[in-house]
Amino acid sequence: MSSILIKGARVIDPRSKLDAARDMLIRQGKIARIEKSITAPKARVVRAKDQVVVPGLIDLHCHLRDPGRPDEETIATGSEAAVAGGFTSICCMPNTDPAIDNESIVNYIYKEAARVGLCNVLPVGAITKARAGKEITEFAELQHAGVKAFSDDGDTVADSSVLRHALEYSKAFDVPIFEHALDKELARDGLMNEGLVATRLGLKGSPAIAEELIVARDLLLAGFTGARLHVCHVSTRGAVELIRRAKREGVRVTCETCPHYFYFNDEVLESLDVNFKVNPPIRSEVDRQAIIEGLKDGTIDCIATDHAPHCRAEKELEFANAPYGMIGLETAVSLAVMELINRQKMSWLDVMRKLTVNPAGIIRIPAGCISVGAAADITIIAPDEKWKVSEEQIRSRSKNTPHLNKELVGRVTNVILNGRVKYSLKDGQ
Ligand code: NCD
Ligand code: ZN
Ligand code: ZN
Ligand code: ZN
Repeated sequence: MSSILIKGARVIDPRSKLDAARDMLIRQGKIARIEKSITAPKARVVRAKDQVVVPGLIDLHCHLRDPGRPDEETIATGSEAAVAGGFTSICCMPNTDPAIDNESIVNYIYKEAARVGLCNVLPVGAITKARAGKEITEFAELQHAGVKAFSDDGDTVADSSVLRHALEYSKAFDVPIFEHALDKELARDGLMNEGLVATRLGLKGSPAIAEELIVARDLLLAGFTGARLHVCHVSTRGAVELIRRAKREGVRVTCETCPHYFYFNDEVLESLDVNFKVNPPIRSEVDRQAIIEGLKDGTIDCIATDHAPHCRAEKELEFANAPYGMIGLETAVSLAVMELINRQKMSWLDVMRKLTVNPAGIIRIPAGCISVGAAADITIIAPDEKWKVSEEQIRSRSKNTPHLNKELVGRVTNVILNGRVKYSLKDGQ
């Protein structure tokens, strides 16, 4: 394994709050030196002037459809999309077919991810068998096999007694419960956010209260059990307020939002582009602003993609029958740069914290920081580079993104995992 010398970059490490011009030498898979100027004649040089070097990004929430829907995504294509988006570790959700509810599927995912060898794919185990909401899975077996969290994502754990026992059981393993928080009955058949725009378009709405009701219940249960709750894809002002208050009261809660919740508001649904149909729905401008406030004040810990690939045939169904979800691994960095950094709402350090050290802490993995001796998982970003999203460019097997043919700013140029280059924009195209 040859050494790599990254020259002239702005190195940003949220954990140590480093944000300075540095050279970095990577040797034997690890970060060997971080200094103002390094010369290493034998090393492969990556020139990174005007670029930003950050810890390899970590996504707590994506859908790889493997096993079950290789026409939509596989561990191989999902890993390619991940590194193209700057991610070196991704958590894949268990709403696969079959669900990730036993050891053999966890073993399959690790084996397949290792064969592909592009990024760390960390499975999330189902809370209930077949995600049916009734019988809790064998947490001990799943944790032993390597799951980093438990979730029935795609569905809320509707039965409060089941969730209570799952939370209690999870404490023995110090593994968080990732909850998809949407009241099934209140959200039923909702095609977009309930509100003025939905009324105008004549589309059935899914109200913010559907999310907030479950978040409130879950926070009470988390407080009651003392277990660790992580709320998936937070999208409403009320949910942010509930979580802010619960954190203040000492509840062990963390949460994530997704780029589409801080980048869009529900007016985009006027296009009737079915790629805007996601769960939870894209909310109002008031909600969007509250999400940004939540990111700023630390109520929202992470930015996760909720990368949800769907095949063209499904997304070409009429709006009411199309599935929920948009892909997101390859556009997340650009959206964060454009909306949060370039519009001066947050600093690089604070945005990158939500994509590195914070998610690493939630799933307790030794990643997400840049320091001498640490594994060299590194992402390099050209912050000003413009690029156009095109079908040919998208590495994901599915193309369901509302950003298609749009120009974005901020582009991942290199990704290094354990000291090996896994993605380089130059080689790619
Ligand atoms: C997800 C999917 O397609 O699996 N869809 C979505 O709109 N977010 C499910 C989920 O995350 O709840
Ligand atoms: Zn979900
Ligand atoms: Zn999801
Ligand atoms: Zn689908």
